[in-house]
Amino acid sequence: MSSMKVAVVGASGNLGVYVVQALLRGGFGVTAITRNESTATFPQGVAVMRVDFSSLESIRNAVVGQDAVVSLTASAGTATQRTLIDAIIEARVPRFIPSEFGLNNRKYRDSRVGHFLREKVSNSDYLIELSERHEWFSWTGLSTEVWLDYALENGIFILNARKHEAMLLDSGNETFSASSLDFVSKAILEVLRRSDKTANKYLSIAEVTTTQSEVINLAEDICGIRFDRSQRSSKELSTILDERLAKGDKSAYIGLLELHFFADGAGHALKDEDNASDLLGLQPRSLRDILERALAFFGRG
Ligand SMILES: NC(=O)c1ccc[n+]([C@@H]2O[C@H](COP(=O)([O-])OP(=O)(O)OC[C@H]3O[C@@H](n4cnc5c(N)ncnc54)[C@H](OP(=O)(O)O)[C@@H]3O)[C@@H](O)[C@H]2O)c1
Repeated sequence: MSSMKVAVVGASGNLGVYVVQALLRGGFGVTAITRNESTATFPQGVAVMRVDFSSLESIRNAVVGQDAVVSLTASAGTATQRTLIDAIIEARVPRFIPSEFGLNNRKYRDSRVGHFLREKVSNSDYLIELSERHEWFSWTGLSTEVWLDYALENGIFILNARKHEAMLLDSGNETFSASSLDFVSKAILEVLRRSDKTANKYLSIAEVTTTQSEVINLAEDICGIRFDRSQRSSKELSTILDERLAKGDKSAYIGLLELHFFADGAGHALKDEDNASDLLGLQPRSLRDILERALAFFGRG
């Protein structure tokens, strides 16, 4: 059991609810730092502090005395991370985990999708600078690849199980890497437990490496039905995205991610030697197990 005090920003979010449970189970003292205007509710055992995220003083007062702050803010909130980071430094909180949890922004900052990562890139550049300036301060960035259960539950990539539809990009045979929300939450817990080994590092983790075709075939087996398959080429998708990007349409981001992960020849699956899951002592679940849980709603009619 740990007596470490951890403040969680975005504790009510898609990832946040898993992280709060993992921290409570791990014996951490958990405080949710939530926006003044938020209607979010939090489980028993979690202290709640309401703040104005545009005010450094308001955040500083909420995080002072914490051993670590974990930010799980929505992408829309990453622009306000700079004030959060400054408040953490003023409050002398020794450890910070920024809201990353997607593509490795150190690696893909100059890629086609990099434009959409620029706030995260700038925040991690700033954290590197701060950790060099303050020996008492450290941070850990975590890239987690596709959240497979979240994507499938929400019909974002590969499958819309509620509509019985499967959407393939190119051949469907390009390998990509993915994690479940449960796995990501355990990784955050282990980063905090192993602070020496993880300090001032940008780590990548993935629970499984698979293909779109493998996911669809397994999902059909689990759900006991055939999905209606459609397919489009990365060339077609790329043309559509160019048009959207020219109009400044931010929804192009999801399409760019689709190309990044699934296009034939993309080559972006996480290599074993770059996967920090062993460093964190994580036990991956099988693809079948992840899909069975993600598609459990199917059996409920
Ligand atoms: N790898 C993947 O497949 C994947 C998928 C989705 C997200 N992500 C990344 O994971 C991180 C967390 O995402 P999430 O989906 O868990 O977040 P989320 O559920 O969309 O939001 C998390 C929390 O952020 C706060 N929030 C909402 N809008 C905000 C705003 N405009 N400004 C400031 N705070 C706001 C809310 O907390 P309160 O109401 O308590 O203030 C909310 O519960 C992000 O960095 C995101 O880019 C990765």
